[in-house]
Amino acid sequence: MAEKFYITTPIYYPSDKLHIGHTYCTVATDTMARYKRMRGYDVMFLTGTDEHGQKIETKAQEAGVTPQQFVDNIVQGERGVLDLWKLMNISNDRFIRTTDDYHVAAIQKIFKKMYENGDIYKGSYKGKYCTPCESFWTESQLKDGKCPDCGRDVVDAEEEAYFFKLSKYAQPVRDLLTQTDFLEPRSRVNEMVNNFIDPGLEDLCVSRTSFTWGVPVDFDPGHVVYVWVDALFNYTTALGFMNDKYDDYKDFWPADVHFVGKEIVRFHSIIWPAMLMSMGMELPKKVYGHGWLLLDGGKMSKSKGNVVDPYLLAERYGVDALRFFLMRSFPFGSDGNFSNELLISTINTDLANDLGNLVSRTVAMVQKYFGGKLPAEQEADELDTELIAMASDLRAKYEKEMEAYQFQNALAEVFKVISRANKYIDENAPWVLAKDESKKARLARVMYNLLETVRICAALLWPVMPETTGKIMERIGAAEYAWDSLATFGVLAADTEVTAGDALFPRIDLAKELAELDAIREAAMAAAKAEREAPLPEPLPPVDFDTFCKVEMTVVKVKACEKVKKSDKLLKFQLDDGTGTDRQILSGIAKFYEPEQLIGKTLVAVTNLPPRKMMGQESCGMLLSAERGEKLNLVMLDDSIPAGARLV
Ligand code: MSP
Repeated sequence: MAEKFYITTPIYYPSDKLHIGHTYCTVATDTMARYKRMRGYDVMFLTGTDEHGQKIETKAQEAGVTPQQFVDNIVQGERGVLDLWKLMNISNDRFIRTTDDYHVAAIQKIFKKMYENGDIYKGSYKGKYCTPCESFWTESQLKDGKCPDCGRDVVDAEEEAYFFKLSKYAQPVRDLLTQTDFLEPRSRVNEMVNNFIDPGLEDLCVSRTSFTWGVPVDFDPGHVVYVWVDALFNYTTALGFMNDKYDDYKDFWPADVHFVGKEIVRFHSIIWPAMLMSMGMELPKKVYGHGWLLLDGGKMSKSKGNVVDPYLLAERYGVDALRFFLMRSFPFGSDGNFSNELLISTINTDLANDLGNLVSRTVAMVQKYFGGKLPAEQEADELDTELIAMASDLRAKYEKEMEAYQFQNALAEVFKVISRANKYIDENAPWVLAKDESKKARLARVMYNLLETVRICAALLWPVMPETTGKIMERIGAAEYAWDSLATFGVLAADTEVTAGDALFPRIDLAKELAELDAIREAAMAAAKAEREAPLPEPLPPVDFDTFCKVEMTVVKVKACEKVKKSDKLLKFQLDDGTGTDRQILSGIAKFYEPEQLIGKTLVAVTNLPPRKMMGQESCGMLLSAERGEKLNLVMLDDSIPAGARLV
């Protein structure tokens, strides 16, 4: 039976659209999962979304929707998390949402079990809390009085809460980190031991009462489970631990590796093993803390307006080129500086020049000299030795790097062979051989060696660029990707037949492209700035009370809502205004809301305006909304107020 391999990404906070930094980690996990599948492992690749917590509750309130609607939109909505992973060709086997019923019920059982075994107890929490990070800190952990992770202000918090006896596990966790390979890269071990364990591990506050958007503690209403307890156990509930939804916990747990960003290594290498120890569960075999993709030397953040949009890049350069760039350009364990220039020059150098040219030149020559099909009669030469040796050794070198999660180095090995093959063309000058009829068998061998080198390289690039390498294999008439076939030179049929195609990676005009990308980025930053700094509207002249009272403002419920055909702006509403007859209103807010989001909502309409035709349809009134800069929010009320109620 095939050996199992279980790999995970962190589950993402759907508090904003995901950016290139999130994409980086998921592409790396996907690359590793595909590599292991290629090696014949039975792989389980899990990703998902971490949907509870105060931050989501607050954002949903700001958007005027329920937290569930808010996360549904970011996860399942247009260009949401699921769309992004589909676009990026992510081959996850499972996707967990922490709001899934089976997960919620399992978390309640897990929490209760740790309570019953005495590792969770009730106390009172006093300390510092970083709301955006949902993290509690001790005074000594703060950096200049601010959150050590994000640098933002922390607040004093005191409330009745449950605590997990993290202190009890300080020694076993320390041993785990210092005496085993549990956490990599090793540099992260020192950070954990020196900054967190040795200064003294305090018990961890694992329930909250100041908000409700979380897994309720079933034996103590009013408490919700701390979001990190809820989130970390996803790695096991998604396999069926403490639930009946799935049934492969026994096959896949413990995980082979959790890939996580460096700022959440603390949760994965200290809190996670401690809780598993408390539950009497096996520990994952490894946690790998990768670095961040930085922009202009700093972390990408929506508020700075400097997030890089993976959709934009994938649309311009292709998904495979983007995946390749992410894996080729940065050492996985350290931070890397993202720049458009690096992206374009990597595509031009490695993909267009080296790989693209090797494939297109080779295929074109086989067509030109042999009508597309190589003759089986071929003649070897000493000149072939080095290329064949390099191509034959490539799999072993690549494997060594991949097993150490050094994607950049693994790809560098492949590109050494690709460069060598391009040099081999020049050394053998096929155009000279072609002029001499007696050199046909030699020419055929040169072509064969090139095609066979391409086969091995393309197959090893498959985990990173699944689409393009498929095309390459087709063009060179190769079917053999099997791992076993990649350490042997000479697997491709001697009389293989090639097919030409479009340029795999068209060369990009660097200067022109950079100017266009800069213009796009500037426009996005200007829009973010305009939003932040939109001027306040001019004050209006006073209005007398009687005039104000003449405006009839009525509570309405949205029964149906749809986009108006041929209009980018208009949404058409059918509203219950309490009269028993539906009221139709058209509103120019299509840019801000999806129609499905609004069904069932309680809004306010001005209902004594004369009817008006818009795009040929009648609008009987106006929905109230608030607007500043690029932001617009409909006025929404609590659902408990009935339709027809008047604003007074
Ligand atoms: N929800 C938690 C994880 C819970 S796992 C049980 C979380 N979510 S997150 O959406 O904020 O981040 C998810 C991952 O994306 C993290 O590993 C984080 O490091 C990674 N990245 C976010 N921005 C990044 C970069 N700019 N560069 C690389 N990775 C980055 O944390």
